[in-house]
Amino acid sequence: MTESSATATKAAAEGERPQGSGAPVAAEEVLVLDFGGQYSQLIARRIRECGVFAELLPHDVPIDAIKARNPTALVLSGGPASVYADGAPELRQELLELGIPVLGICYGMQAMVQSLGGRVEGAEAGEFGRTPLSVVDGGGRLLAGTPDEQLCWMSHRDTVFEPPPGFAALASTPESPVAACEHPDRGLYGIQFHPEVVHTPYGTEILTRFLREIAGCAETWSPASVIDEQVERIRAQVGEGRAICGLSGGVDSATAALLVHRAIGDRLTCVLVDHGLLRKNEADQVVEAFRDRLGVPLIDVDAEDRFLDRLAGVTDPERKRKIIGEEFIRVFEEEAEKIEDARFLVQGTLYSDLIESGGDGREAATIKSHHNVGGLPEDLDLELVEPLRMLFKDEVRAVAEELGLPERFVWRQPFPGPGLAIRIVGDEVTRERLDILREADAVLQEEIRAAGLYRELWQSFCVLPAVRSVGVQGDERTYAYPIVIRAVTSEDAMTADWARLPYDLLERVSSRIMNEIRHVNRVALDISSKPPSTIEWE
Ligand code: XMP
Repeated sequence: MTESSATATKAAAEGERPQGSGAPVAAEEVLVLDFGGQYSQLIARRIRECGVFAELLPHDVPIDAIKARNPTALVLSGGPASVYADGAPELRQELLELGIPVLGICYGMQAMVQSLGGRVEGAEAGEFGRTPLSVVDGGGRLLAGTPDEQLCWMSHRDTVFEPPPGFAALASTPESPVAACEHPDRGLYGIQFHPEVVHTPYGTEILTRFLREIAGCAETWSPASVIDEQVERIRAQVGEGRAICGLSGGVDSATAALLVHRAIGDRLTCVLVDHGLLRKNEADQVVEAFRDRLGVPLIDVDAEDRFLDRLAGVTDPERKRKIIGEEFIRVFEEEAEKIEDARFLVQGTLYSDLIESGGDGREAATIKSHHNVGGLPEDLDLELVEPLRMLFKDEVRAVAEELGLPERFVWRQPFPGPGLAIRIVGDEVTRERLDILREADAVLQEEIRAAGLYRELWQSFCVLPAVRSVGVQGDERTYAYPIVIRAVTSEDAMTADWARLPYDLLERVSSRIMNEIRHVNRVALDISSKPPSTIEWE
């Protein structure tokens, strides 16, 4: 992690707005305190989808830092601990006495109940997954207007058996006598189930009710509303200075660049390092979109020879990555030095890069540096401009669309920094192998797009294992490479499933690859999920 991002991280963990990072200041905000639940990030996303800015903070963030943010409401997330276990994350009483509504979800509810004198214990059986929920007495304030019998998504073993004095029980499930409770006069609300997951059909309605009717939040936030705010912040940070931005064609760097361009115009220069490991026409598409269509100053550096020279004879995948990373930084630095008095480096860091889902907050904000090859030159003496630091990926896409980024970039599947080099497996990266892989990949992309499946897939690409096998073409025996098709569905790349591509599509791709590309005589399909495999082959 660079020093500046470490500082920003610490600031975020302490509840301050990271200076100069461009956190949007919303008219109203809700703070979600993270007790380590796997859905904590999702809670913040759902609240934002309701039009209210929400941010995730560690559960032990100093109370003064929370007060300084003046939130409209607090949400306490779920978490894996038992409230009565040694070392369980503590819920500080002061948080319930700030004079703003508090909604506890799962562990958050149990912690609230326990601290106020209710009874939480391990139940005979836990409840995991879809569970029938019976609402009593019209659902009180929180569940009012939702059906008496509904489904909800549960994930708990400990259970609330009695609400604290003064609280009303609002609902039950087969294993949870108190699946929701509230004390409206004190502004305290709790639900055992997860309103943030799609499997709770009335979840959004319940969250919306909490935000609008109970906390009184207006609909003040949307991803697009970030634009003006960010433009102001970037101007304040950069002043009359100059900035540079490495463009890869990915949606994050592209959107960050467009925002900064809107703020400071031609004082931003983008640099596209074409390391010769990009997909077919990719560099041209970036140049055409940014320089020609969007009018963003862009230097494109053809560095293919440099990279291939350095990769010659290298077979070890880690070595390949390292060489590409180092060379990338070198080329980028050389270009950056040519831009006189550039003091700022624009990066497309996202909110999810800064917080670790399911983390307990202390580990929050670990940058996933191992995947950042082709990322930041650490010893460049440049100040970071990170206008997307507070956004989730889908929000970035909304901002990108609003800024006029062409659809191809807005919805581009992730592509690794070291590019096609890590998809030539088992031997060295050569120009010939790159050309074969690039052509095969182009056929696959074209057919997947034509079948309307591109957006449904997390990634789809080809791999070239550098081995040859025998085949027959015309009357001749051939000795050529196989191409492996890899297509996966995924939410976040942590886990992935192989995509069930239609047979007729696979047949088209296979015959086109073998007919159109010399040196390929076999096409295979990878049907492995992650885990135990990974998405890339390497
Ligand atoms: P794996 O192969 O670990 O990949 O399942 C998970 C996700 O990370 C991407 N990936 C990379 N992205 N630089 C990147 O920018 C890299 O070196 C790199 N390696 C893997 C991969 O494409 C997938 O989306």
